[in-house]
Amino acid sequence: MQEKLEEVKKQAQAELGGISDEVSLQNLKAKFLGRKGVITEILKGMKDVSPEDRPKMGQLINEVKTGLEKQFDEKSVQLKEEKKKKSIAEEKLDVTLPGRSLPVGTKHPVSQVMEEVISIFEKMGFEVAEGPEIETDYYNFEALNIPKNHPARDMQDTFYISDDVVLRTHTSPVQIRVMEKEEPPIKIIAPGRVYRCDSDVSHTPMFHQVEGLLVDKNITFGDLKGVLTEFLGLIFGEGIGVRFRPSFFPFTEPSAEVDIECVICDGKGCRVCKESGWLEILGCGMVDPEVFKSVNYDPEIYSGFAFGMGIERITMLKFGINDIRLFFENDIRFLKQFI
Ligand code: FA5
Ligand code: MG
Repeated sequence: MQEKLEEVKKQAQAELGGISDEVSLQNLKAKFLGRKGVITEILKGMKDVSPEDRPKMGQLINEVKTGLEKQFDEKSVQLKEEKKKKSIAEEKLDVTLPGRSLPVGTKHPVSQVMEEVISIFEKMGFEVAEGPEIETDYYNFEALNIPKNHPARDMQDTFYISDDVVLRTHTSPVQIRVMEKEEPPIKIIAPGRVYRCDSDVSHTPMFHQVEGLLVDKNITFGDLKGVLTEFLGLIFGEGIGVRFRPSFFPFTEPSAEVDIECVICDGKGCRVCKESGWLEILGCGMVDPEVFKSVNYDPEIYSGFAFGMGIERITMLKFGINDIRLFFENDIRFLKQFI
């Protein structure tokens, strides 16, 4: 047994000499010192050794075992050291190279125009109000003088969540929410997202509106026209073609819509303006007395005007964009142009 041990020791040392990487080292260690390794095998032979020789033999096996373990550990340290030296010698880092920069995002054109619109109205003294995008039928329709089953509901293709809950189709419900809480004079704008079951070159299922509401004594249609004309001059610059066209909304009387001369075709007619030469950007009018009644304002004392504009439409006209859907495709080549 002693001879065999001596032989095993020599063999292990010889094989250890030829090792040059950590994986082979671990395999070799398992072969000699592992649970099923050569040394364990020798230990099993102890039962055949005479009781007097056993302590000596045990001690000898232990010596060989710890000796080998030490040599394996030293080899491991040596291998790691060599690897480190090699990588320091071979890998080079040029600290003078410029770093990799992260691409910087740009503000979405719709957000840019939204901010500009808000800032123009803030300068005119309007305050910003907000309301929920998931709205009840009452605020989105009924309080705005659009009863259930009334044909006026067809004007806006609605996403219904349940019979009584909708994705708001316009920002007009914020008018009601503000008037329920506050007494006149009221002078607010309400920017936000709205939703309609709609999609073509000038319609998307989600878009942005900015609502406006001004209520006080002696407010006239002249005030409405003055405020909107001033706004349009500031946002588009003087000289762009603007027209007020008589229209209908259940919550205003009289009502109008404002069209801007189509910049895509210079008013000649194209698919964006549906060959009309004009693109509609907003609806407006004098607040209907029925609406004042639903918020307990006395229509004999107060009058007011309201408007609701489409921000994507304004952005299309400002930047000459011929398809509204481009805003929501998130194509970086498109978005990068609006710095
Ligand atoms: C309304 O939504 C009324 N609430 C506006 C209003 C407010 C009138 C206050 C009177 C008083 P209309 O459905 O026309 O009206 O929409 C207003 C504007 O939103 C349109 O002029 C247009 O610019 C824009 N718009 C409407 N539908 C879409 C759509 N699917 N995609 C993009 N813009 C749209
Ligand atoms: Mg309209």
